[in-house]
Amino acid sequence: MKNKAQKIFESHFGNPTVQVFSPGRANIIGEHTDYNEGYVLPFAIGQGIWFLAAANSTSVMNIIAANTGEIARVDLSDHSYIPVFGWEKYLLQVIRTLDLHGNHGLDLVFFGDLPIGGGVSSSSAITCGFISVLDSLFDLGLTPDDMIRTAVTAEVGSGVRGGIMDQYTIFNGVSDKAILLDCRTGSHKFVDLNMRGYHFYLINTNVRHNLVQTDYNSRRAECDRAVGLISVNHKKISALRDLTLSDLPAIRELLDDTLFNRVSFVVQENDRVLHAVEAIRSHNWNKLGELLYGSHDGLAQMYEVSCDELNWLVNFTLDVDQFLGARMMGGGFGGCTINLTKGKISLDLVRKIEIEYEKAFGLKPEIMPITAENGILGGIE
Ligand code: GLA
Repeated sequence: MKNKAQKIFESHFGNPTVQVFSPGRANIIGEHTDYNEGYVLPFAIGQGIWFLAAANSTSVMNIIAANTGEIARVDLSDHSYIPVFGWEKYLLQVIRTLDLHGNHGLDLVFFGDLPIGGGVSSSSAITCGFISVLDSLFDLGLTPDDMIRTAVTAEVGSGVRGGIMDQYTIFNGVSDKAILLDCRTGSHKFVDLNMRGYHFYLINTNVRHNLVQTDYNSRRAECDRAVGLISVNHKKISALRDLTLSDLPAIRELLDDTLFNRVSFVVQENDRVLHAVEAIRSHNWNKLGELLYGSHDGLAQMYEVSCDELNWLVNFTLDVDQFLGARMMGGGFGGCTINLTKGKISLDLVRKIEIEYEKAFGLKPEIMPITAENGILGGIE
């Protein structure tokens, strides 16, 4: 992957002076909890995007998306640039967020193996990778926190009111560890993923989600509304994170069914994250699997962010002993499931999933083994 990016860079621009690998992220459990100031348990994965770049002492950014061959030329001194391709808006939001002007021209090639819209944070990988490139090329002196905050702001500017999970993980991932991130305090603890014979796989529905066009933002608005109602009528809270399971009976009467389901899911999901950490620490993989299934049920029925294809893939695993757990991962409405298996899955099983899924939906699923790898900051603890 890097070699291909290197060749393309050389043929267009000469030698790159900066190389950055920006990984995608998986999330074991803790979905739609980050913007509710709750807990998440993600890790950076080996699949991601390579960025190769050099400053060119002009005001022009020449950018090649090597996967598609698309080329953009953005003159930083001319603010009328209108994005032509899907990915440019992320780069432009970064430039805007960092308030970069005329003399920050560069040549850049990026190339990756992350499924786009697959729920593995391809957009955050682009955003975070680009920030890191700019920081290195132009000595911007950004701290890790600055980079995370810049990435979150830039992505919110692209239309999704996302949380902090993806960007935090992409910068801070460490190999063989999951990140227990407390999204209220912005601090984390690493959890050793000593998997010994157990494995995580992603299965991509190949239903492309575009969170801007889905109900992602409206889920977030529902949570905000619930916080307001609960604060006035039950107890003062600043986020759903402030509730525990024991608050649920008392708030039942305050909310309509939909809002109560949303709130209950978030409260239960936060609780599941903490139990998942215990399960991983005690190598209780069956328990972890149960928690994944519980998370999926909640996401599908109470939070309503799943879809037929995701449900089909999760249900399929219920009849296969080797699968201990599965759930939709990321924002939802398409993208991937994350699966926990005992032992590696055989090619026969892969083939069976492919054939039956294709029969059901006319789409080919993509099955990818994943492991926890270093993030952009190289696993500096
Ligand atoms: C997307 C967002 C994240 C998070 C997840 C759902 O990936 O970017 O911040 O909210 O959805 O857990």
